[in-house]
Amino acid sequence: MNASAPILLFDSGVGGLTVLAELRKMLPQAPVIYAADTAGLPYGSKTEAEIAARVAGLLGVLSERYKPRLACIACNTASTIALGMVRDVLNIPIVGTVPAIKPAAALTKTGVIGLLGTEATIRQVYVDRLEAEFAADKRLVRHGAPELVAAAEAKLRGDAFDRGAITGAVEALKAKAGDGAIDTVVLACTHFPLLTDELRAAFGAGIRFVDGAAGIARRITALTEGHAFDRTSADRFVFTGDRAPSKTLVEVLASYGLPTITPV
Ligand code: DGL
Repeated sequence: MNASAPILLFDSGVGGLTVLAELRKMLPQAPVIYAADTAGLPYGSKTEAEIAARVAGLLGVLSERYKPRLACIACNTASTIALGMVRDVLNIPIVGTVPAIKPAAALTKTGVIGLLGTEATIRQVYVDRLEAEFAADKRLVRHGAPELVAAAEAKLRGDAFDRGAITGAVEALKAKAGDGAIDTVVLACTHFPLLTDELRAAFGAGIRFVDGAAGIARRITALTEGHAFDRTSADRFVFTGDRAPSKTLVEVLASYGLPTITPV
């Protein structure tokens, strides 16, 4: 194994940075390529076929080009739809991101768990299976919140974003719960922890958020145990499409250790 072979993190946009932040804590020496399919963003409003084709195709191209030792699909939407297919076509370990229903079920006291994800994620059989396996004795209230993806992207670009949309999504989730008191919310989209402060303000005190980022970083660490890492060249952020990151986003990416920015 070449010590400078990177770990590839993949998302439709900036959501995977929440996974990268955890990975940096555990594997600070690991070289990383972060790929954002910004031309395909948002995934959450696309069909299963569109997402599967895009993700499998792009990951194929990226692994040819950058020869990663492992790829992480740092996106719940892409993982719940395309993880199996990507594992079938690539011959490197693939780590997926799936809604953190298991830890949420262990934490809830009221037995009512909220799940915020993209519209595509919340309708997946994968989520039905997680619910049946880990939360059969709980109530899982799902809500698709594409406006949170847009808000997280805008926040990191330095653009104004609609805080009313965040409150609206939270109110819609609570309305679905009816009389049930949600005490734990699964952030089932990697973009959403970027809005933790705004979500906390919208929910009010006493809500616990759960996401999968630390668990994914632990899984990557376990799968690369014993590997040599040589992070001597600058880590890179690559993107699809024509829209280069704004000045503010360039600064944000540098703060995550991604100073080099190029098209895929
Ligand atoms: N970050 C992605 C996820 O975890 C999806 C955002 C989108 O492209 O809709 O689901």
